Amino acid sequence: MQNYYMAHDKHQTVLVVDFGGQYTQLIARKVREQKVFTEIVPWNSPDLESKWSAADAVILSGGPKSVTEPDAPTLPEHLLRLGKPILGICYGHQLLGKLLGGEVVRAEKREYGKHVLCLTHPSALIEEEGMVWMSHGDTVIKPPPGFVVTAKTETCPVAVMENVEQKIFGVQFHPEVSHTTFGNQVLSSFLFEQAKLAGDWTPKNFIEETIEDIRRTVGKSKVLCAVSGGVDSAVTAALVARAVHKQLICVFVDHGLLRKNEASEVVETFREYIDAELITIDASDSFFKALKGIKDPEEKRKIVGEQFIKVFEAHAQKWEDCEFLAQGTLYPDVIESGSPTAARIKTHHNVGGLPSWMRMKLIEPLRWLFKDEVRRVGKELGLPEKIIDREPFPGPGLAVRILGEVTPEKVKIVQEADWIFREELKRAGISPRVWQSFAGLLDVKSVGVMGDERTYQHPIVLRAVESEDAMTARAVDIPFPLLEHIATRIVNEVQGVNRVLYDLTSKPPATIEWE
Ligand code: XMP
Repeated sequence: MQNYYMAHDKHQTVLVVDFGGQYTQLIARKVREQKVFTEIVPWNSPDLESKWSAADAVILSGGPKSVTEPDAPTLPEHLLRLGKPILGICYGHQLLGKLLGGEVVRAEKREYGKHVLCLTHPSALIEEEGMVWMSHGDTVIKPPPGFVVTAKTETCPVAVMENVEQKIFGVQFHPEVSHTTFGNQVLSSFLFEQAKLAGDWTPKNFIEETIEDIRRTVGKSKVLCAVSGGVDSAVTAALVARAVHKQLICVFVDHGLLRKNEASEVVETFREYIDAELITIDASDSFFKALKGIKDPEEKRKIVGEQFIKVFEAHAQKWEDCEFLAQGTLYPDVIESGSPTAARIKTHHNVGGLPSWMRMKLIEPLRWLFKDEVRRVGKELGLPEKIIDREPFPGPGLAVRILGEVTPEKVKIVQEADWIFREELKRAGISPRVWQSFAGLLDVKSVGVMGDERTYQHPIVLRAVESEDAMTARAVDIPFPLLEHIATRIVNEVQGVNRVLYDLTSKPPATIEWE
């Protein structure tokens, strides 16, 4: 059994009760940005009561249901009387209205989008009027006894209700969404003025506690950590290295499907910044062999995963005495798996699942962190920007950016085109607003003319997206002259390409990757 670091044992915690709202993780992140630790728990979790009792404050999230429906998600009423400061947001606001004796109705007119919030009474949460983001069908029309209505909108008579004495607050709008101009101030008033929290969740504290925890958990045993060059595995390795550096063995498997110069950069950067042994394995030949003739995207993913396992198996005797495996699992993966305390081996994107005989115990130092927190921890650990701000890169690498069969020749084409594209974006100062940018190679051929010769070659598709979390994304608005310049460079400098396309599709309906 693992002895996991429990952030809520060491820090004041705001429990975010999830009613299925699309912004629940955002609420948790926004509170953490204010240096207060949050834990998300589903409204129907068997752990709800114990977690509520242990929490320092509670936020009730939004949700898609109507509180007026008989089977609507709800809460045991006595929890509301435990004296915890509570902030209900949207559905949470309506649920407070219903459970505490107010009146909630299905709204005649659905409020969606930006609205002007007008103060009707001095408020403990809101300093001034402004724009708020609303998205709801139900409306509280009468607050529960003991509550004061402090703000309304044109169509919402109880947009904010407050019971300062009991420290229970409800807001119909979404303070966590950036369209609510003073959203952070609403959260900070709740956290610090009303709930009197200290703000003790900082990267520095996290690092110190995690290092101590890793030392205690690992003892004198050895730890294996697979690194990919990405920020998650780098921060994981750096934390374990700080804790037990001589006992850590890092493994970097080069599958030959990385971007241009990436493998050597990963190794160099690792050696410079992380104090641990690094074993590099050039396994590109075996990956190409396994991928030969395979066109189906999912099959390619599976093969890359299996190859990782084979490479691990082939080298297993070298790290037989490793008792622990360190992985960079993040909090969103943990939430999606159901329980933050459930131990499980998630198929690691970069390792592709591990052989069952590798009966190592897992340590997942980042399992309480969101991606932005991992970056802050990485910065605090002194990792360079090139690691911290590295664009997310899929585990199967260029195999999912080369449509159809993957060959070393095609990899070379994509690497060169990708290099030019990202170099030009960097030069034009566009990179900071880019979530991911890359070149893909399409599995069709088209006719072109170069010099006096007819060509019949593959097109390159360029993709650059802006995104917050990869769940949704939109194409980056790259000036046309720059796109034209990039296209010209690619067809001139990359052999085998006679056409360049720019993908304008957002996600959804497209995905970020082409496969
Ligand atoms: P999509 O293409 O689904 O991608 O919009 C969302 C994010 O996930 C990355 N991605 C992957 N990462 N293994 C990974 O490690 C994969 O098989 C994989 N597929 C997509 C993608 O780059 C984007 O950041």
